[in-house]
Amino acid sequence: MNKPKILIARAIFPEVIARLAQHFDVETNQTDEVWTPSQLVARLQDKQGVFAMGTERIDASVLSQCPSLKICANMTVGYNNFDLDAMTAAGVLGTNAPDVLTETTADFGFGLLMATARRMAEGEHYLRAGKWTKWRYDMLVGSDIHGSTLGILGMGRIGQGIARRGALGFGMKVIYHNRSRLDAKTEVQCQASYVSKEELLKSSDHLVLVIPYSAQTHHVIGAAELAMMKPSATLINIARGGIVDDAALAVALRNKTIAAAGLDVFEGEPKVHPDLLTVPNVVLTPHIASATTPTRLAMANLAADNLIAYFTHKKPLTPLNPVVLSSL
Ligand code: DGY
Repeated sequence: MNKPKILIARAIFPEVIARLAQHFDVETNQTDEVWTPSQLVARLQDKQGVFAMGTERIDASVLSQCPSLKICANMTVGYNNFDLDAMTAAGVLGTNAPDVLTETTADFGFGLLMATARRMAEGEHYLRAGKWTKWRYDMLVGSDIHGSTLGILGMGRIGQGIARRGALGFGMKVIYHNRSRLDAKTEVQCQASYVSKEELLKSSDHLVLVIPYSAQTHHVIGAAELAMMKPSATLINIARGGIVDDAALAVALRNKTIAAAGLDVFEGEPKVHPDLLTVPNVVLTPHIASATTPTRLAMANLAADNLIAYFTHKKPLTPLNPVVLSSL
């Protein structure tokens, strides 16, 4: 029997390709070219499945040109590259890769918070530039983490991981805002109190963004929200570009509306707003919050599991639009 054909859209671990090749006729992209939408379509037209990296846009236009496509499996937890409504209408399943990256990403979010609030990157640049000639009482003073108020916008699995690190590890007071309030047991586990978005902005010493990107969350943090924050506050974005208005943030950092920011994600990445590159009080990292080898391997294997499960028994592990499965 012919194996189903799948496209692995970007470079990935050879052992994951080997696993997939046992089940599928696989086309790979180990040179890691970043294709335009029409280059993607050209390769996807005869495929039943795609292993995606979270960067390949799957929308009505792509779907209409790829009628054999049945499943798009992201190896990322974020899936803003999928137009899920269009996929559901076309009977195409989407899957993502939740859970396996939670703790690794929370570690990084907390690390970025510490690097930003304690000005570690600025200090490193200062030293490398030969500017360190003497110890001064006010050299690169930052703000404390321990005992401060940690605000979290978006209290899913990663937000909860950051809350636990802050409350249990650093004695922080944790407040959060989320679409829906957590149940009482989870609030106790995270030692987190629910507040309005306005209260979160006004009271946080350090605000970490962990909400998914959508049309509703576009520029959720813009000039007005930044103006509500404390001048001493730190803002951390490990969620998605576009949640923060990067141009407004650069202005706020330059004017010291807030003290500092740590950003792992950017609007239009891998491009970075040029004004962010010229302000000193921001730590910039290239979307690496989940980047440890065991975690990236677990993410890739979960995407592979979803593809294999879909084609063997139609029971993928982490479906995003399971309604598609009921009509099979
Ligand atoms: C995710 O899994 O969504 C991470 O942001 C990596 O893209």
